[in-house]
Amino acid sequence: MRNQTARVEWRDGNIPVSTRFDDPYFSLENGVAETGHVFLDGNDLPARFAPGFHVAELGFGTGLNLLVAWEAWDAAGHAGPLRFTSFEAYPMTLNDMARAHASFPDFGGRRDALLAAWHEGPRMALEGVEVNVIIGDARDTLPGWRGHADAWFLDGFSPAKNPELWSSDLMQEVARHTARSGTAATYTAAGFVRRGLADAGFQVTRAPGYGRKRHMTRAVLA
Ligand SMILES: C[S@@+](CC[C@H](N)C(=O)[O-])C[C@H]1O[C@@H](n2cnc3c(N)ncnc32)[C@H](O)[C@@H]1O
Repeated sequence: MRNQTARVEWRDGNIPVSTRFDDPYFSLENGVAETGHVFLDGNDLPARFAPGFHVAELGFGTGLNLLVAWEAWDAAGHAGPLRFTSFEAYPMTLNDMARAHASFPDFGGRRDALLAAWHEGPRMALEGVEVNVIIGDARDTLPGWRGHADAWFLDGFSPAKNPELWSSDLMQEVARHTARSGTAATYTAAGFVRRGLADAGFQVTRAPGYGRKRHMTRAVLA
């Protein structure tokens, strides 16, 4: 296939918006705070962090969620690196990622370390985190993944615009690749996503969303 890199335009300066999906990569209000609320709190992190903990994500995008999780991991002070695996069909070019990162704080130097490593490729051994971005459509790559995540960050574009990343088949694969008592969280409370997670074996609850979003979804593998 030709040109599978991300296609972006820019809003309010440095906020990337996908032209393929017509959706922004992160909250126009406050991406960092939304990530903390939805993906950390939504998975009971950092409280559940433990040595060897494995986060998996659908949609690596700019790497913002990685930066937030990595900083929280380092602050928690566990031995060894956090493991972070993300599935991404349309990786951002280094230039676009660098421009998107201009919207973020520098995360104690982690932002520049990520950019330097992204230049080398999608497998990154960084100080405190081992990152593997698996390039390709998650519907093709997740079934063959051999890992099991303790916490999932489900972060596709909005379910209306990117339904393939929220399908019930894919939620079955998420469940199949979740450790015992593992969790998943997402900013959306769309009914078909919640049903897909429940059908896959998760106990699903609605929680208060971030900012203007009334609800988000938390799920625990039953
Ligand atoms: C909302 S963005 C993710 C934002 C990201 N987590 C961050 O921290 O910047 C959604 C991502 O899902 C990716 N995506 C969309 N469809 C996909 C698919 N079928 N398989 C894998 N990734 C996909 C997009 O390319 C995009 O990077």
